[in-house]
Amino acid sequence: MGDMNGIDGISMQRISSFIKSYIQDDEGLLGDIYQKAVADRVPVMRKETRELLKTQLIMKKPKDVLEIGTAVGYSSLFMSKYLDESGKIATLELDEERVKIARANIDALGKTDVITVLQGDAYETLKTLQSDAYDFAFVDAAKGQYINYYPDVMRVVKSGGVIISDNVLQDGDVLESHYTVDKRNRTIHDRMREYLYTITHDDKLDTAILSVGDGVAISIKR
Ligand SMILES: C[S@@+](CC[C@H](N)C(=O)[O-])C[C@H]1O[C@@H](n2cnc3c(N)ncnc32)[C@H](O)[C@@H]1O
Repeated sequence: MGDMNGIDGISMQRISSFIKSYIQDDEGLLGDIYQKAVADRVPVMRKETRELLKTQLIMKKPKDVLEIGTAVGYSSLFMSKYLDESGKIATLELDEERVKIARANIDALGKTDVITVLQGDAYETLKTLQSDAYDFAFVDAAKGQYINYYPDVMRVVKSGGVIISDNVLQDGDVLESHYTVDKRNRTIHDRMREYLYTITHDDKLDTAILSVGDGVAISIKR
């Protein structure tokens, strides 16, 4: 009974606000880029997700990072602080306007040698990438596409590599029944469930799904 009176009685929102109250903001230009993205309603990763990502990067010290979903470059710039000395990031973005802003932000922070933005549909761009080339992947683009990206993400990530997938709980929508979800969101809902099933049942992966931010899955390729 003790447990039932504990976390069950506190809303996730309160837990999230409590956790966020301990998180420090980014300093300098990176902090400005984050604030501007939020003000302009550009989707950027949540602060709790960012902190989790940071710990994974520090543990892995990756040399080659693949990101799907650049937006304005915030997450790439954040990740670039925690790479191996010779580390590089390739980040994929469809939207031309966002690519321009991301490249300008990357330039402003002097990271053009470290971060390369590849413009185009990630599904197509992924096919052009070398196999076994990345030791860390951050999947943060169109949620309905994760299941389609999956075969190529598995192909390009090395054995022992880490795959972090963001927004896998879709603000709780993914927990609901197919029929109670808004009709236009049903395809995304079904595809995300299929993705979660795949990454937790593929014998080439070890995966943990966490209710951090909007839901994060951490997978390690065996
Ligand atoms: C959640 S945002 C990425 C946020 C970013 N990772 C951050 O935290 O700063 C998702 C991005 O994926 C992009 N996107 C959506 N569909 C895509 C596709 N098919 N190929 C490449 N990028 C896509 C969107 O334009 C959007 O900028």
